[in-house]
Amino acid sequence: MTHSSGNATRSGNFAIGGDLTIHRLGFGAMRLTGSGIWGPPADHDEAIRTLKRLPELGVNFIDTADAYGPDVSEWLIREALHPYPKGLVIATKGGLTRSGPDIWKPVGRPEYLLQQVHKSLRNLGVEQIDLWQLHRIDPTVPADEQFDAIRSFIDQKLIRHAGLSEVSIEDIKAASKFFNVATVQNRYNLVDRTSEDVLDYCAARNIGFIPWFPLAAGDLAKPGSILDTMAGKYGAHPSQIALAWVLKRSPVMLPIPGTSKVVHLEQNVAAADITLSDEDFAALDSEGRKAFQSTP
Ligand SMILES: NC(=O)c1ccc[n+]([C@@H]2O[C@H](COP(=O)([O-])OP(=O)(O)OC[C@H]3O[C@@H](n4cnc5c(N)ncnc54)[C@H](OP(=O)(O)O)[C@@H]3O)[C@@H](O)[C@H]2O)c1
Repeated sequence: MTHSSGNATRSGNFAIGGDLTIHRLGFGAMRLTGSGIWGPPADHDEAIRTLKRLPELGVNFIDTADAYGPDVSEWLIREALHPYPKGLVIATKGGLTRSGPDIWKPVGRPEYLLQQVHKSLRNLGVEQIDLWQLHRIDPTVPADEQFDAIRSFIDQKLIRHAGLSEVSIEDIKAASKFFNVATVQNRYNLVDRTSEDVLDYCAARNIGFIPWFPLAAGDLAKPGSILDTMAGKYGAHPSQIALAWVLKRSPVMLPIPGTSKVVHLEQNVAAADITLSDEDFAALDSEGRKAFQSTP
């Protein structure tokens, strides 16, 4: 038997910023757009069906960004789910510009960030953004100016909580002088452990850690690999085991696997039902670290 339907309520809870409680297993809305994260989806109706399925599966945390499409991902979320079900938390981001498919360039000037906050409010049809994340710190603009702008968005109640993306511990410390850093979103998965120190820092301070690309497992997912063996043992898909491992890694972990298909969404959410034994978790951890260390 493989795990094919489940409920995100079984992934446990986390309170973002101490007061926005979500089920830890969320949804990433980047893959709903066209190829190159550009333009409308290839299958609009399936994208809408995927979003509408989220509340039915207990998913109440969606991650998106102004830059996904651009705008398209936020528009689709509004089209599918507005008026929003009670308790749904939508996190968006700003600070990356798009001048074509697969092109992403940071712009952190305060007036631009403010414009994008207003645009996301309008795109999503909300009066306040639950969680707004600086997509990237723009290296050409003083970081303090970007952090100060974020504090002003909180002061004006345009956003409730703020987070950062692709940052170091030093960045979190610097931003914390301006506002309470509620979440950090860095690339992290079984075989990409670059942000292990950032994750530990977040866990010690109850900062939500949102690992992007959580499904990646590289060669560990190949037939005969440890993930493949575990999948057989738990009656699951290798990607579900990868997700179950990420969920068990830390109570502040808020994975947001992304898909444009209902069937994949259902499969991903079912990972909340898999409880890895401590022994299996440790074995996967060790193989994942080895694979990471041998990555050129
Ligand atoms: N902060 C940042 O800089 C940053 C960068 C990238 C992403 N993100 C966020 O993180 C989220 C997740 O990242 P990600 O999309 O890169 O990685 P991911 O969720 O780990 O992987 C998504 C890919 O896996 C496929 N997939 C999903 N579920 C599957 C399943 N059950 N079986 C087989 N294939 C499956 C999807 O294609 P199908 O559509 O065919 O299912 C898609 O190609 C994004 O949606 C976005 O919100 C943030």
